[in-house]
Amino acid sequence: MSVYLNNAATTWPKPEPVARAMFDFLSSGGANLGRGSTAGRDLKTANLVGDLRQKVARLFGGYENGDPRYVTFTSGVTEALNIVLKGYLRPGMRAVTTSMEHNSVIRPLRRLETQGVELTILRCDEKGHLDPAALRRRFQEPADLFVLAGASNLCGTIQDLEAIAEICRERKVPLVVDAAQTAGLIPHDAASLGLAALCFTGHKALQGPQGTGGVVWRPDFAEKCLPLMEGGTGSRSHEENQPELLPDKFEAGTPNLPGLSGFSAALDWLATEGIDRVRRREEVLGERLLEGLKSLPGVRLYGSSEMEGRLPVFTLNLEGFDNNDLARELAQRWEIEARPGIHCAPLAHQTLGSFPQGALRLSPGYFNREEEIDRCLEAIRELASH
Ligand SMILES: Cc1ncc(COP(=O)(O)O)c(C=O)c1O
Repeated sequence: MSVYLNNAATTWPKPEPVARAMFDFLSSGGANLGRGSTAGRDLKTANLVGDLRQKVARLFGGYENGDPRYVTFTSGVTEALNIVLKGYLRPGMRAVTTSMEHNSVIRPLRRLETQGVELTILRCDEKGHLDPAALRRRFQEPADLFVLAGASNLCGTIQDLEAIAEICRERKVPLVVDAAQTAGLIPHDAASLGLAALCFTGHKALQGPQGTGGVVWRPDFAEKCLPLMEGGTGSRSHEENQPELLPDKFEAGTPNLPGLSGFSAALDWLATEGIDRVRRREEVLGERLLEGLKSLPGVRLYGSSEMEGRLPVFTLNLEGFDNNDLARELAQRWEIEARPGIHCAPLAHQTLGSFPQGALRLSPGYFNREEEIDRCLEAIRELASH
């Protein structure tokens, strides 16, 4: 049996009800959303999506007491971030972000920069932290939007969102959070933090299938954003213009309904299991892996060397090994799955000191067992000894 330590890329295995719900939708549900009649299957699909919007709004502390209209579904956090950033920023506006961001933030911002948006990238420290004081200093100059990830996909460092949100509220700068790594492990409360938009992906710690994700909007901010895509919504079909009403405004085209069925089952599983319990379990595994890695000769760990204030995502290099070769050895000799390279985050690797060579990322998940962590440590110990 292989050992899967690549949960920061996508969690695996998924809870059993996820695949079952997708199968059931395709085999017996299967209607399109808002493109049918009032047949039972059409209503079932409408209820599935409506209920899921409510679950998401409740999970992330959505606005207006969790009004489901302010939840948009997308194919993942990449699409969610593109909708928000390209929908809001116009030439002449000033966007601010950090040096720890994933390319799903950096690339849309670089594109917007070519169109006249001014971009500031605040450098985080070598553990991946943004100092809130640096943000406060930057905000002495005008800014129109600040976007950052709740936690790093390289070294798991968790940002101080409370402090950052307070500064953004004081300065009236819309704050957009990329919750790709934190959603499902850390509770988020978008409305109480005053987030302009919280962008999430369904297939990581939320335990859902790939191809799911979305945005939780602050109503006034959603109003200011233009939709990235326009087309059929199943509503107001007599109108040639995209509806302004949410959720239709940002949801043109047939949604990923089998994916949303699985995502809904994943959120039910998570609610039963409890986010706190999932996090605690991952921390136990993370602690075991971290302490083991620290005791191995030749291992250079990037980011924090403590478990506190981080998620169980570890990035390292082993002396004498290229990280791609290390990943190959682990996969071929020990059936251990991990991800080498740059992890779609070149600026973050520069910040941590692992650019351009990259590093190996080990990310345990809820379903890993202690023996699997030990097997990985044993494998690295053996490679180190050669
Ligand atoms: C911090 C962060 N942002 C964005 C993404 C992109 O996620 P997706 O591919 O699901 O859109 C990832 C995925 O690795 C991530 O870790």
